[in-house]
Amino acid sequence: MSARLFVYVLALVIASPALAAGPIAQVESPGKVLSVEVSLDNDGRAAYSVSRRGKPVITPSRLGFLLADAPKLERNFALASSSTRSQDDTWEQPWGERRFVRNRFNELRVSLKESKNLQRTLDVVFRVYDDGLGFRYEFPDQPALKDVNIVEELTEFTVATPATAWWIPAGEWNRYEYLYHKTPLVEVGQAHTPMTVRTEDGVYIAFHEAALVDYSSMWLRQVEGQKFRANLSPSASGAKVRRKAPFNTPWRTLQIADSAGGLYMSDLILNLNEPNKLGDVSWFKPFKYVGIWWGMHLDKQTWATGPRHGATTEETKRYIDFAAANGFRGVLVEGWNVGWDGDWFANGADYLYSQPTPDFDIVALAAYAKSKGVHLVGHHETGGNIAVYEAQLEAALDFYQRLGIDSIKSGYVADAGGIQARGKDGRIDFEWHDGQVMSRHHLLVVTEAAERHIAINPHEPIKDTGLRRTYPNWVAREGARGMEYNAWGNPPNPPEHEANLVFTRMLSGPMDFTPGVISLEGKKQKLQSTIAKQLALYVVLYSPIQMAADLIENYEANPKPFQFIKDVPADWSDTRVLNGEIGDYVTFARKDRNSEDWYIGAVTDESARTLSAKLDFLTPGKRYRAQIYRDGPNADWKTNGKDIVIEERTVTSADTLSLVLAPGGGQAIRLLRSR
Ligand code: NOJ
Ligand code: CA
Repeated sequence: MSARLFVYVLALVIASPALAAGPIAQVESPGKVLSVEVSLDNDGRAAYSVSRRGKPVITPSRLGFLLADAPKLERNFALASSSTRSQDDTWEQPWGERRFVRNRFNELRVSLKESKNLQRTLDVVFRVYDDGLGFRYEFPDQPALKDVNIVEELTEFTVATPATAWWIPAGEWNRYEYLYHKTPLVEVGQAHTPMTVRTEDGVYIAFHEAALVDYSSMWLRQVEGQKFRANLSPSASGAKVRRKAPFNTPWRTLQIADSAGGLYMSDLILNLNEPNKLGDVSWFKPFKYVGIWWGMHLDKQTWATGPRHGATTEETKRYIDFAAANGFRGVLVEGWNVGWDGDWFANGADYLYSQPTPDFDIVALAAYAKSKGVHLVGHHETGGNIAVYEAQLEAALDFYQRLGIDSIKSGYVADAGGIQARGKDGRIDFEWHDGQVMSRHHLLVVTEAAERHIAINPHEPIKDTGLRRTYPNWVAREGARGMEYNAWGNPPNPPEHEANLVFTRMLSGPMDFTPGVISLEGKKQKLQSTIAKQLALYVVLYSPIQMAADLIENYEANPKPFQFIKDVPADWSDTRVLNGEIGDYVTFARKDRNSEDWYIGAVTDESARTLSAKLDFLTPGKRYRAQIYRDGPNADWKTNGKDIVIEERTVTSADTLSLVLAPGGGQAIRLLRSR
């Protein structure tokens, strides 16, 4: 398929600043689904509003900034000019949930100018798609505003109709690792994005941001009722963002659909990011991995050296052999380097990123892995100390590159506000995981790694805002409660967790959730899941790197369900959401990027349910062998998560499957096209 590109510009320029209150500019989406209006009030304050098919979705919501060292940029605006343009093109993802992405929008640029005093100018640019919109501020180069030191962004989001929200709290110690709340929108205090809401008239809206570069993350704070305001993540240096004009803020995004699945199908976040800046990235290919990991979370092994040290030469060889025998490319090893023996949590001062522990022969292991067609996956835990990490970063990446280690899981284990960064005059500043300092840090790591053809997967990260489009070696991240909570979390992840993730966290991008614990055993607790659901997660929770997280012995003891984990790909050419409701259930169909085969994954919450999956996405006239992994008749996460039925049947595009899911259950299906 060849890329199509139609760009045409339709400029409407109003010459002299107009001072009248009321609407000043308007733009519709290409299919006339959404429309955005910008207005000024009598004090010259700008606002935007959004309607969908003629009905208000966002009522007039203010725009502007508080600055640290200059009068606020918010009143006395007049319209200097406005213009529109349209774009419709299709671009190709190097890897992803789908191969081709259509980018079709109408853009409105509104240039505002202060009618008094400093006469500063500020542009607001809206890109309006049929399934959502993004807008950002652009600070032009101008004499009266050179250094832009932002104390607060005053952007508001006022939801027009009473709504229910799915959200996690922002500004709390555990970063993004909270259970999702479902409450009336008016009961949300302060939330991270993506925050997803459903209005009482059935409109689904997800609030988020795209292209978070050199800026602080946006939290949403309630002003009153259903009116929310951007609250930027704090900074040790007072102003939350320090930039020099000209520059752009990230895009503030609203995905808007009439179903939960419609939100997931939107490519808005990726489309609003810049195209790939790395050039040929064929050196990264999606992969699956196993590793020395779950044993530490179960407390059977330790990160620290000693009698239970996980990262030994012998244990790693066992994992390499297992990976080679079962077709896994990667073997993650945590606790391999010097620094874990002391107090590493929120400390990180002792880590040496190029110094293995004496019982870990990394040179021999990298060579052994290579001889078996396997790659070690690197690990850089920082304890949140980026001052120490950045000082060693280049040497640490060179070290891995020399060994042929081409992907790294990193970690920032420290409470929110506990990142230690090198500040002015060499002092240590305590920063937030999602502030401007960390947005810069992550891109530093990603771009340094890209130069060495290394992929990055941070845990305790900054949230995803679609930067994988621009930097395709930023392949996944954590940024929500993952599998580890099922080992030791109190409470563990409840059965509804993954159906919540799909329509909240996963709207931002891939997650290194690390599924596949088919033993269903945590440390002193059981997973609130069935085996079939663990398999379904490989299709439901997208990531181009997927871990098979369980212990080797648990896979060896359950070879039949393990077969699905061996078979399922980690790269797709197409993705469909067949059904779904936030926090209740969801069914995905995804097409393998490297064959004609499709995979289905469905999960439910604590309720048993029967979902219907129409197979009309299959090629008509072709027969498919369906390998079905379903909850058995007695399956129930509470009493019998292990009851699974594995069976085969032949299907075509004319069939509709009934997926019977147990409480806390799921279903995984591999659809092999006959040749
Ligand atoms: C937290 C990560 O999420 C987990 O996967 C890792 O094992 C520990 N930090 C140690 O780095
Ligand atoms: Ca974590």
